[in-house]
Amino acid sequence: MKEKIVDVEIESYSKKGHGVAAYNTSKVEVVGSAIGDLLEVSLRGRKKRVHNGHILSIKKPSSLRVMPSCRHSGSCGGCCWQQIDYNEQLKTKEGQIRELYRDSEEAFNFLPIHPSSSKFAYRNKMEFSFSQDLKGNKYLGLIIAKSRGKVENIEKCHLVNPWMNEVLCSIRAWFENEDIQAFHAPSAKGALRTLTLREGMRTGEKMVMLTISSTPEYALSKEQLHSFQKQVLNISPDASIFLRIHQAIKGEVTKFYEMLLNGSETFQEHLEITAYGQTRKYIFDISPTSFFQPNTLVAEKLFESALEICELNKDMRVFDLYSGTSTLGIVFSPFVKNVVSIELNPYATFDAKVNIENNHIANMEVIQGDVGEILKDPSFQKKHPKVDLVIVDPPRTGLDPSAIQNILNLDATQLLYISCNPKTQKEDLVKLCQVYKLVVMKPFDQFPHTPHVENIAYLVKK
Ligand SMILES: C[S@@+](CC[C@H](N)C(=O)[O-])C[C@H]1O[C@@H](n2cnc3c(N)ncnc32)[C@H](O)[C@@H]1O
Repeated sequence: MKEKIVDVEIESYSKKGHGVAAYNTSKVEVVGSAIGDLLEVSLRGRKKRVHNGHILSIKKPSSLRVMPSCRHSGSCGGCCWQQIDYNEQLKTKEGQIRELYRDSEEAFNFLPIHPSSSKFAYRNKMEFSFSQDLKGNKYLGLIIAKSRGKVENIEKCHLVNPWMNEVLCSIRAWFENEDIQAFHAPSAKGALRTLTLREGMRTGEKMVMLTISSTPEYALSKEQLHSFQKQVLNISPDASIFLRIHQAIKGEVTKFYEMLLNGSETFQEHLEITAYGQTRKYIFDISPTSFFQPNTLVAEKLFESALEICELNKDMRVFDLYSGTSTLGIVFSPFVKNVVSIELNPYATFDAKVNIENNHIANMEVIQGDVGEILKDPSFQKKHPKVDLVIVDPPRTGLDPSAIQNILNLDATQLLYISCNPKTQKEDLVKLCQVYKLVVMKPFDQFPHTPHVENIAYLVKK
């Protein structure tokens, strides 16, 4: 079929941050565009009423356009807003959250979005994917935008520090030279799945994790594992290195097994928190599968704002739900009577216990388990009959209905809801606002050059 070429003007952004233009009675989504761009695009495929437009030429650039720093911009799905002026990115993110709450019946204090102090090299974690095509070409990089899993060989990702790019290129060379196949999901053949790189932005400590399939036929040999480690250690001699086995069996829950190949079992990050006129430095041990906020410097600002927004005093009991390595619980602990953290991941729970000890905190407890289950457990309720402030920071999917009901049953006077997905946060807040009143909201830009935004909402009992 002949390729269709049309001129379009970008008017808005899709959920994934791609420019959207009207075209006849349908729409065209264009990767790498900015609102106001007049573009010549070729139409390549269509999903429902949305065409996929590929830029052939920029006929008139938007006034919001800047030169992207990255040569992969426009194709890589890692960050799709590099061509948009940073202040405009902030305005768009703030505007999207304001729009979500436009129908809010009660007034609340909407504080301006907090920008990221670093526009590039801000991520403390990046996951790269392995892939291979039918001709045998090998890839290690990030998924191409709108490609259904096709991987682009990334030479330099601008969102991470140089050592991560060096490891990325070196491991790609290793992959190309070794007789190892990338994992192919539809056939479940092959070995290599992902390469995860993490670091403490304030400590420089590094962690590398290679995830492979569990099929014995594709297991890596001792020599291959040794040469993998050698490649990493040539770049980062102190890196902690893990091998992770990903066991996906049809009809069963996916399981993961981590094996330490080199160095320490955890890496450390520090947080420097200034609140109520005092600055404190905290130390965090982080295991390979434990969550940690991906932009350390913005996380510090987010936690400082959370402390200042809540009404705290030394008689207060706090629950830190979905607590990860207990970052929030630990930074709140000096200002309140006690904190109870609840977290599902056993490794993160273990880290949290170590972190409490390392930071010399005497008024905290950590419980491992599902928030919804723990909150309704009679022995938990007996031990913790009263709470004044509940902090929730759930995954992108938000709170499940049983967790919402159990949180409402706690009858706390204050609620702080931190979220990396304003849409699910809004859905949950609608339910929580039957009992609570939204008082303050503040977005944070943890993820420059992407459409993602972190948002905190502070509520008090009506
Ligand atoms: C967005 S992270 C927040 C972590 C932490 N508050 C922080 O700032 O580092 C969400 C955490 O919720 C945990 N989690 C997911 N589902 C859970 C559940 N049902 N019950 C308890 N924790 C859960 C995840 O393991 C993850 O550590």
